[in-house]
Amino acid sequence: MGVSGCGKSTIGQLLSNEMNIPFFDGDDYHPESNIAKMSKGEALNDHDRFGWLKILNKLANTQLKNSSCIIACSALKNSYRDILNEGIQNSTKWVFLKGSFEQITDRINKRKNHFMSSELLQSQFNTIEEPTEAITIDVNLSTKQIIKKVIDQLKNNSEFGLFGLGVMGKSLARNLASKEFKISMFNRHVKDSEENVAIHFKDEFEELSNTLPFDTIEAFVNSIKKPRKILMMVNAGNITDSVIKNLLPFLSKGDILIDGGNSNYNKTKERFDYLKSKNIHFIGAGVSGGEEGALKGPSIMLGGNKEAYKKVEPFLEAISAKDKNSLPCCAYIGPEGSGHFVKMVHNGIEYVEMQLLAEVFVILKSSGNNPDEIASILELWKSTTNSYLLEITIDILRKKDGNDWLINKIMDKAGNKGTGNWTTIATAQLGVPSTMIASALFARYTSFYKEERITASKNFESNTVSKLTITNEDILKTYQFARIINHHQGFKLIEEASKSYKWNLNLSELSRIWTNGCIIKSDLMIEFVTIFKSTSNLLTDPEIIKKIKELKPTAKKVVSECILNDLPISSLNESINFLNSFATANSSANLIQAQRDYFGAHTYQRIDDKSNKNYHTNWKN
Ligand code: 6PG
Repeated sequence: MGVSGCGKSTIGQLLSNEMNIPFFDGDDYHPESNIAKMSKGEALNDHDRFGWLKILNKLANTQLKNSSCIIACSALKNSYRDILNEGIQNSTKWVFLKGSFEQITDRINKRKNHFMSSELLQSQFNTIEEPTEAITIDVNLSTKQIIKKVIDQLKNNSEFGLFGLGVMGKSLARNLASKEFKISMFNRHVKDSEENVAIHFKDEFEELSNTLPFDTIEAFVNSIKKPRKILMMVNAGNITDSVIKNLLPFLSKGDILIDGGNSNYNKTKERFDYLKSKNIHFIGAGVSGGEEGALKGPSIMLGGNKEAYKKVEPFLEAISAKDKNSLPCCAYIGPEGSGHFVKMVHNGIEYVEMQLLAEVFVILKSSGNNPDEIASILELWKSTTNSYLLEITIDILRKKDGNDWLINKIMDKAGNKGTGNWTTIATAQLGVPSTMIASALFARYTSFYKEERITASKNFESNTVSKLTITNEDILKTYQFARIINHHQGFKLIEEASKSYKWNLNLSELSRIWTNGCIIKSDLMIEFVTIFKSTSNLLTDPEIIKKIKELKPTAKKVVSECILNDLPISSLNESINFLNSFATANSSANLIQAQRDYFGAHTYQRIDDKSNKNYHTNWKN
């Protein structure tokens, strides 16, 4: 591509000979109407050009089915190139032959029998929107040099960069490469511990044979086609900032950095703004699915600028999991840190789902079941209440270690990397009662006090004699009840954040991309895709109301019996308490308001005065 006279037909033909692929001169494909217009000396307008560009796009699509081809076309505007690119975005390589007005005029004048008015040429220079994604070549180089440069760059340039080859980075690299994307891979060089990681990794797997491995940042960045798309898979926190700092000197305007770590959404917004000031796009990507998901298809939640998202969409959609209709579990969520926000809440929901299963385990264990027996009970739940976390829990419970079950040998202190903590902070900051997330987080924190728990277990030894009279079916119903409340609270938090930050999030689409690939995928999630099409509040959906009404009596019985038996079931308990508080039309908050007014003159409003007027009472008189 390039203005008239830049040499695109000559270079195209020579490249075609060199690379042994067919060449087509775009000018030969004008429809009759354009030819008629041009022969009358009339300039073509955008409308005339669009038809012609569509013909060239069809030609390119057809050729691509055989192998490949070279097409010469001025392609001056972005919109023209968009048409030429339709359906073949991942395969198109643009070569822009660039020269100044004077240089091109000079070249045209040197050609025999060729005339072009400088006015017409000037109008092309006025029209051209220079591509950011092209191999840009200076027309002043010799044809030989041009051909060599283009071929070198076509060979060496990759389409996508992956920075950081930890567990997730490696799996995503293999996933991208197996989808036939040409990628560059980078891992830092640490003497004696991390040397030539990318090169060795490439040798390990057949699908990586076309990848370009690096351990210097500059070479890695230079190997990627512009605008560069680089997925950073590094530890969230300060490391992300230092990676950005190290990459920046080598990036160009319009390049796109994607942070695929579990970063805090507030930091993502800061990084987005900072990089915007440097003309670099920043996308905060929530990636869920662990190592296996990353390799076989994760769920991907992207936040940032939509235009930048469109450029990375083909790559991320291709590697993501697919829903039951084969649609990618990858979506543009909204601006700034919204992708990382929803991933954070995903993890909050995940914490509760895990805690609920842990509490079910506690109850079934206290009823005298061993891990294998518990696994068999849970196995039966799959037909009505399946989820990824239920499935892995069954596997875990069956795992043996010698004569015992491995689960019995694992230290009962639950770790965390911070996302549950952030979700709890966010829900408090936004004033949303996602109480189950807090209860699941605090259950992990409580577990951490192992030594103090041992002492407390002696000091407060239970002398309860009563036995549980609940059935496995009762426990299942309680678990189903608590899961609905958990999901209600998680999605409610997202909905409120969306309103506060004006993100305009789509809960149905979000639940859709959580139906596969991610840790909280479940049968229940599939139901939400439809429900969220008509409401953003699960507790108003008739089917959900019906289910809750059916399940609650049993849940109350199970939770009360557990409490009578001194069993720690804080999240199951919270699910009932939350619903009791929430489904109370006239609550005890009137007393709180009176107390506040009593000691602090904070005032209160009256239910018999609709004007929202604030009252204060002198309570002592
Ligand atoms: C996922 C997981 C993943 C990871 C979290 C767990 O969606 O793939 O949520 O992101 O397992 O880091 O966090 P904790 O270490 O805090 O449990």
